[in-house]
Order: sequence, then C-alpha cells, then structure tokens
Amino acid sequence: MSSRPHVVLSAAQSLDGYLDDASTTRLILSNEDDFAEVDRLRADADAILVGANTVRADNPRLLVRSADLRSERVAAGRPEQPIKVTVTSSGKLDPASRFFTVGEAPKLVYAPPVAVDGLRDVATIIDAGTPPRLERILDDLGERGVRQLLVEGGGAVHTQFLEAGLADELRLAIAPLVVGDPRAPRFLGPGAFPRPLELAELRQLGDVAVLHYRAAAEPTPIDVLRLRQAIALADECPPSSTFRVGAVIAAPDGTVLATGHSGEGEPHNHAEEAALAKLRADDPRLATATMYSSLEPCSSRASHPKSCTQLILETPIPRVVIAWREPSLFVEAEGVELLAAAGRKVVEVPALAAEVRRANTHLPGIRP
Ligand SMILES: NC(=O)c1ccc[n+]([C@@H]2O[C@H](COP(=O)([O-])OP(=O)(O)OC[C@H]3O[C@@H](n4cnc5c(N)ncnc54)[C@H](OP(=O)(O)O)[C@@H]3O)[C@@H](O)[C@H]2O)c1
Ligand SMILES: [Zn+2]
Repeated sequence: MSSRPHVVLSAAQSLDGYLDDASTTRLILSNEDDFAEVDRLRADADAILVGANTVRADNPRLLVRSADLRSERVAAGRPEQPIKVTVTSSGKLDPASRFFTVGEAPKLVYAPPVAVDGLRDVATIIDAGTPPRLERILDDLGERGVRQLLVEGGGAVHTQFLEAGLADELRLAIAPLVVGDPRAPRFLGPGAFPRPLELAELRQLGDVAVLHYRAAAEPTPIDVLRLRQAIALADECPPSSTFRVGAVIAAPDGTVLATGHSGEGEPHNHAEEAALAKLRADDPRLATATMYSSLEPCSSRASHPKSCTQLILETPIPRVVIAWREPSLFVEAEGVELLAAAGRKVVEVPALAAEVRRANTHLPGIRP
C-alpha cells in the first residue's frame, strides 16, 4: 500500500456548492489566474483522473497548457504530459473524445472488462473490479510509477475519494456565483466522510477564493478500510438484546490478523474478545497491531469477569480505533479513558458512528 500515489483533489464550485449548471454548456467558475494554478497542479502530477461523466460532459483535453511547465517537466526527466485516467462502469465513452485523441500521453480506462470493446484501440483498459474499486486503481497506478495523482472531478469521483479516506489534499476554488438549480451536479454528494480535513491555506485570486485543505494524519486510509470492515461485521451478530459490534485486529500495513463479532462462539462474547481469542497471547504481531472496533470497548460487564478494555490492556496492542463512543444505556462507559490513561492511542472516527447506530436500532433510544 505504501506505493500508492499521493492524491490531490481539485475542484471549482459556485457559492452554493455546484460544479456546473444544469445546461449542456460548461459553466466557467475559474479565472485565468486560477486556471494557471491548476495548470501548475497538473504539471506537478504524474497522472490526472476524471470520472466518465466529466469526459462525456466537458470533453476535456487534460493537458498541461503552459509551454514553460512542459519544458520544466522534460528538463526534470519526466514525460511532457501526465498520464490521463478515467473510470467507468458503463464503458460508455466516445473513442473520438479529446481524452483519447489529444496528446501522446498514455490513456488508462479502469472499467469492467466486458464494457469497453470500442475503446481498446485508443486506451489501455484495466480491470479493477466490477465496479472498479478506488483502492485497486491507486495500487495499479502506484505500480505504474505514479507518485502524485491529481483528481479533477466530477462530484461522484470526489465524493468517492473523500468517503474512502483516500484524498490527501483538496484544492477548492470558490466563484462568487450562485447556481441555485438542484438539477446541477454538486461538488459532493451525501455520504460518510471519515478523514477530517484541515484548512492549510486561504487565498484570493481576483474574485475567486482558493482554499487548500490537508487530510488529518489519522485516521489513515488503512484505518478507514479496516474500521469499515469491523462495522460491517456487526451484520454477522446473532439477534441480541445488547450491542451488535464488529472488531478487526490488523497489522500496520493493513493485514488482518483476526476478526470477531458480538455473540460469536457463545452468546455473551464481545467482538473484541472473540477477535483476541483467535490470537496467541504471545503473538509478536500484537505489539504493533491496531484493534478496530465499531463501538468503544466496554469497561465493565455483568456477564464476564473481564471487560474488553481489560482484555486489550493485557495485550501489548498500542492503538485502538473506534467509530462510536458507547452511550450510557447499560453502564457508564469509560473504555476510551482507561485505554488512554494506560498509554494506548485511541482514535475516534465519529463520521462512521451513524452506520454503527444503524446496526443497533433494536436498542432503546438508538437512532441512526
Ligand atoms: N467545476 C469543476 O471543477 C468540475 C470538474 C470536473 C467536472 N465538473 C462537472 O461535473 C459534472 C460531472 O460530475 P458527475 O458527478 O456527474 O460525474 P463524474 O464524477 O465526472 O463521473 C461519474 C461517472 O464516473 C464513473 N465512475 C465514477 N466512479 C466510479 C467507480 N468507482 N466505478 C465505476 N465507475 C465510476 C461512472 O461512469 P459510468 O456512468 O460510465 O459508469 C459515473 O457515472 C459535469 O457537469 C462537469 O462539467 C466540474
Ligand atoms: Zn466488551
């Protein structure tokens, strides 16, 4: 996973968050200075990715326009133009679009193999699952030597990168225009966005405001993947009158060491204890592992002598990632406090808590 490219999202939006209007002509949201900065971002990138709707709607060239920037690339021993990348499930892309016909740079289409017969002469078609998965696309781009990927939209693609926690930076230009039409494409759709963004810079280019964000260091993309897996494991729980919880223990590179869910083995088992029971107490991998749990580990329980917090503290596991702090339904939970007081790192990802609550609406007062 370490060879995945650094991912920079770039978008221009109206004041009310639209990428375009609903007409067939493209709404211009940038000015010359802004275009010039985006050109610099393109020149810094090894590849530029857009969604299939953007190829269809805007027919973009996706080239570095400035001759100076192109010369800089060549002088640095890089190809004159970045690789062009798109992703599609339908395969409905016109081989005569400028994405394919303009420039000598390689064109990559991530698509299910059945969908794209008409494109084989104009692009390299790559199977990254049906539908294509962003993690696999990034792994493949990394293997092709792409170190920096610029993602230029549209909204469906930006939403997926941010939902998967795979965006490292975001450059957002805001134009002083109001689109005011719900049929127009939005910068972001609804979703759960697990990696907080931190504002790194704020500048004015004429009447365009440019905001530059960086993704928080934690949770990492691996954390997001494994915590989502833990949350999904709650579906395996037998019907119960207590919390439905999933847990995953993983190595720093994301390798899964063990999984568990509540009610696994015997009805009173908790997810973290079911996962821990699958590993030997002296397993050396525990010393660097992370425990992912959809719910805060319990700190006192009626049914068992040891709480999950105690069980974790009996291992060397240094790090615990959770989605939802336990609400005071049964007991006053203090798993997070006890783990932190014992020097274990606890990372909470509240953006994914609604999904955990959804698995627990059988409990009194719990709503997604
Ligand atoms: N202002 C800006 O900065 C900016 C930048 C870019 C675009 N835009 C505007 O944004 C609009 C397009 O945005 P959009 O949200 O409609 O579409 P989009 O994000 O450009 O493309 C969405 C399409 O990409 C494909 N796709 C995306 N993720 C995929 C995945 N994981 N697996 C398979 N296929 C995937 C699907 O294509 P198939 O339907 O072929 O399966 C999907 O319909 C246009 O109006 C364009 O002008 C504005
Ligand atoms: Zn427990």
